[in-house]
Amino acid sequence: MTITSGTPTPIQIAQQLEQRVIGQREAIQEIAVAIAKKLTGLRVGNVLMIGPSGTGKTTLLHAVEEMLAADPSLAVSSNVIRIHANVLGEEAERGHAGEGLLLRLIERARRRLGSGASVELLIEQASHGLVFVDEVDKIRTVVGGQPNVSGIRAQEALLTLIENEAVPLRLPDWADGATVQIDSRSILFVCVGAFEGLHDAVYHRVTAGRDRGALKPVTVVEDGRVRNELQFSLREWLKSEDLFEYGVSPQFLSRFDAVVLLDALGEEDLLRIFTQGQESALRQSQTYFARLGIRLQLTPDACRRIAREASRQPRLGARALKEIFRRVIRPFEYDPRGTAAEDGKIVIDVAEVDRALAAFRAQNDAAAG
Ligand SMILES: Nc1ncnc2c1ncn2[C@@H]1O[C@H](COP(=O)(O)OP(=O)(O)OP(=O)(O)O)[C@@H](O)[C@H]1O
Ligand SMILES: [Mg+2]
Repeated sequence: MTITSGTPTPIQIAQQLEQRVIGQREAIQEIAVAIAKKLTGLRVGNVLMIGPSGTGKTTLLHAVEEMLAADPSLAVSSNVIRIHANVLGEEAERGHAGEGLLLRLIERARRRLGSGASVELLIEQASHGLVFVDEVDKIRTVVGGQPNVSGIRAQEALLTLIENEAVPLRLPDWADGATVQIDSRSILFVCVGAFEGLHDAVYHRVTAGRDRGALKPVTVVEDGRVRNELQFSLREWLKSEDLFEYGVSPQFLSRFDAVVLLDALGEEDLLRIFTQGQESALRQSQTYFARLGIRLQLTPDACRRIAREASRQPRLGARALKEIFRRVIRPFEYDPRGTAAEDGKIVIDVAEVDRALAAFRAQNDAAAG
């Protein structure tokens, strides 16, 4: 492929992605640079993204796919597929995960270019494709200290594709079924996963485990009181060995030029996701009420209370917003006309949010006996 002018710059790509993904600057920048290089026809190093659940990894992959699909001139140089690592694992157990990926890339090109496109063109498109592997932490080589066969095989299958100039592939029957050699060196792999448990494992290593004492407490003064605190960030302490122990084989890890860590979402990011996010639960609910001629409004304090409550449930990330909002909004959505004021408005203030949350807690406490 030739280098073309007129392809978007990393900044332009990042601006597009930021319309969907809030925060996560580092991840957005990394992927924007990779895509920009790829679109100019350069070979690009693979990217591994690690970040807590519900912080925007899948959303980011979606955003890239949508961006590329929306502009036909970009789609020409970016044949994209997204695959769940579990599926790779299953195919790897049957011995054809790598082949499966290449065939998907070819099928994808055929859907885009139409069944009249030549097989050579489809192969060319596939060999310059983008492969997004979501939930890549599902193909660990070890789980609970035991070897995980599907994970080992899936990582091996990906290894055979990465940086390989001649991968044998039997073409589908519609493409005459011949076996060809595919040069897969230009395929860009972006693999993402939550790596649940990795955070705690590294924290354990530097506080109580092998590197006990490496993480030094810092002195904090709060309300006039002095105390010691351990301030831990995975970004600061993560080493390759931690990933090896987690079940990423050294060979597989070495195929990634960049390992990017996504941040846990803080209150401010959550607030923006709740009020401005494209898939925000608030917006969806507002659309529902609008169809019924009702205007739903949340006061700024009410929004902030929901974001704060969500930030206290770090394991859910932005998904906590939906859960909390549902508790607040359910009675209104259940009986829109009965709960709206005469002017056709529903206004939810912070007191209403507090009431809903307190009622939910009381219910939970009662259920817990
Ligand atoms: N940074 C973000 N910007 C905008 N929306 C977000 C962000 N993070 C999460 N969300 C919202 O939260 C929901 C879950 O996000 P997403 O699916 O991207 O999480 P994930 O990181 O892939 O989590 P998991 O590891 O559990 O798969 C999505 O509906 C999305 O709208
Ligand atoms: Mg996801």
